[in-house]
Parts: sequence; structure tokens; C-alpha cells
Amino acid sequence: MTTTVVISGTGIYQPEHIITNAELVESYNAYADLQNAKYASDIANGSREALTHSNVAFIEKASGIKQRYVLEKEGVLDPTRMYPRFTPRGNDELSLMAEIAAKAAEQALAAAGKTGADVDMVLCSSANMQRAYPAMAIEIQQAIGAGGFGFDMNVACSSATFGIEQAVNAIKAGTAKCVLMVNPEITSAHLEWRDRDCHFIFGDVCTAVVVEAASTATSVDQWEVLGTKLATQFSNNIRNNFGFMNSAEDTEPDARDKKFQQEGRKVFKEVVPMAASHIETHLASLDRAPQNVRRYWLHQANLGMNQLVLKKLVDREVGNDIAPLILDEYANTASAGSVIAFHAHRSDLQAGDVGVICSFGAGYSIGSVVVKKL
Ligand code: COA
Repeated sequence: MTTTVVISGTGIYQPEHIITNAELVESYNAYADLQNAKYASDIANGSREALTHSNVAFIEKASGIKQRYVLEKEGVLDPTRMYPRFTPRGNDELSLMAEIAAKAAEQALAAAGKTGADVDMVLCSSANMQRAYPAMAIEIQQAIGAGGFGFDMNVACSSATFGIEQAVNAIKAGTAKCVLMVNPEITSAHLEWRDRDCHFIFGDVCTAVVVEAASTATSVDQWEVLGTKLATQFSNNIRNNFGFMNSAEDTEPDARDKKFQQEGRKVFKEVVPMAASHIETHLASLDRAPQNVRRYWLHQANLGMNQLVLKKLVDREVGNDIAPLILDEYANTASAGSVIAFHAHRSDLQAGDVGVICSFGAGYSIGSVVVKKL
């Protein structure tokens, strides 16, 4: 007999600071002016190009993003700095990633009617890890008082959906009874805020998901996982060369390639058809049609991209009721985006309704989770 696996709780930690597009653009433009003044003679003799101003209208039209939450705001907006200012913590203090993960976890566990002691597997699945080891997941395991084991995993923007599949498989295999999967995304530290092409893209957040067998679940809000499907295909169009060999290679730690870089247009063009056909194939394998899906909780990178994926799937324009948007408020939060959408936009669904959580991002990586409200 196969085990019925459910998502029995979700949680979110939302940082207190907001950066609006207007604030972001003002700071970028001040930075550009400072740079242009600094290199005025190079610009005059043609050996360097002047930086051009960013603007709010472009950002909103190109992406749909209106603001983002960040863990630290002053450093990001300081035109002489342009990255967050985090105070280093000692080895005996909880790390920042573990701290926000524990906060999101607390909410998810409460929603599931569980405590940390019920958890026997912790997955910290995120696009960036703040250190090599010990695993953040093990620190989180200790912080919430969980037993069992934990490990970190990284599949960039698809870290959450890939994490949910690992959780589901562990429950089915009997290697875990209750899995906490967290996605602490401190994207403000991997974003190049000095690059006009991408300075508006990301925001910080942490999401948490509790996965367990239906037989142990007591939550009033349970979502049966009907199936999961993962796919990857190599691409350099979203890339970050930061890594432990940087100093051994005598490369500049602050070089442009050590932070998030992308060919946005190419990503848009290539990933839309991949995501649409991935979801369609997954649904077909479960004898479901895209038109009958009540809600799509899609990856939140670009409004136009989501609209096109949906148009390919259901052959019509759909609104927020079918595919809720959260990136206007949160921006792109890497792996957490589709989970935020699921967390914030599911309470109106009825028993029997089917939905799809789907992420797409660097790798390329695509993950879909088909769920049914019990
Ligand atoms: N302000 C004003 N103009 C800007 C600007 C800014 N902040 N950033 C770029 N521009 C300019 C460009 O220089 C370019 O000018 P040009 O036409 O004179 O060369 C023009 O606007 C268009 O730039 P482009 O980068 O082609 O914009 P776009 O329409 O492709 O939108 C993205 C950019 C990033 C929003 C969009 O490509 C995207 O979201 N792609 C998908 C990305 C994705 O899903 N990534 C996954 C990440 S995890």
C-alpha cells in the first residue's frame, strides 16, 4: 500500500524592511552619478562608458516588481556601499540563515499542529548557503529541538520544489516521519545592487513547509501530494561563480561574476516553453488536464513570464484567482516564491481542488508539485 503524503503546514518569515522601487532607483542613480564623476576623464576619453540611470517605470513594466523586503536596508541603499551590512556572528550564536529559518519553521509547525520534537528530518534548501559546514539544516534541527537528521541542498530557484520531493520520498520510504523543509533566501547578499540590469530583481524571505504521512497529520488544512516531477538542463544563462576555490584561483572576491548574473531575455524565452510543457506532462501523468487545475502557485521571477506559461497551458489569459502573483510585493525570492504564493493564496480553495506548485530557475531547474486539498 502506498503512503498518502500531505503538506500539513506552511510558514513564512518576512523581513521588516521594505525597499520600494523609488528608493532603489534613487540610490542606484546616486551611485551611478558618483561613479561617473570618479571616472569622468576615462569617460571623456572614451576608455570607459558612463553609467545610465535606472528608472521605476522600466522595472515595473519589465518585471512586475514594485518593492522587496530585505533583512538590512541602509547598506543596500548607501550609494557608497550598495550591499547589505550584516554583523558577523560568533560560532556560539545562531547564524542568520538558521535564525530566519527557525522563525518560519515555528509558524509552519504551529499550522501543522506539531512541535520541533515531532520533526525527524530537516532540509535546508536554498539558492545560497552562508557557510560550507556544519550544515545549516543541522543548526536549524538543534534550534527547533528536532531529532533525526538534517542536510542542506541547493538547486537555486528550484530548491523548494526539489526539497518537497525529497521530503515526500523520505516519508514514502519510511526514512522519516515528519519533515521540515525550509528555504531561507538571503538574496540581498548575492544580488549585484550596482548592476542596473538586475538591481531590482531580488528580495529576502524564508519559507517553511511541513511534510508528513496523512496517517499522522492532525492539521485542519491538509494538501495531499498527488505527485512531484523534477527536471534539469544545463545552462549558463543564470550563473554565480562564487565558490570555495575563488581565493585558490587568485580571483577577485568582489568580481562581477561572483554574484548573480543572468541573460534575462534568453532565460525568459527558453524557460517559458520548458515550464509549460513540464507542467503539462506532469499533469497528464496524473490524468489531469491543465484547464481543470484550480490554482497555479508559480515561481515568482517575472509577471509576463508567468502569464505566458499559463497562456500556453490553458490557452487563455488568467488572472490572480488562477495564478496569484506575489512578486509585486516580495520581488523574486529565489526558491521561496512559489511557496509564498501557496502559503498566502490557498485558504479559499475547497476539498477536492487541485493545484500546482511550480518553480523554474538556474540550472536550468524545474520542479512541480501537484497537490489536492483534503
Ligand atoms: N532601468 C532602465 N532601463 C534598463 C534597466 C533599468 N533598471 N535595466 C535594463 N534596462 C534597459 C536595457 O539596457 C535595455 O536597453 P536597450 O534596449 O537600449 O539595450 C532595455 O532596458 C531592455 O533590457 P532587457 O534586459 O532586455 O529587459 P527585459 O525586457 O528582458 O527585462 C528582465 C529584464 C530581467 C526583467 C527579464 O528579462 C526577466 O525577468 N527575465 C526572466 C528572468 C528569470 O526568470 N530569471 C530567473 C532568475 S532566478
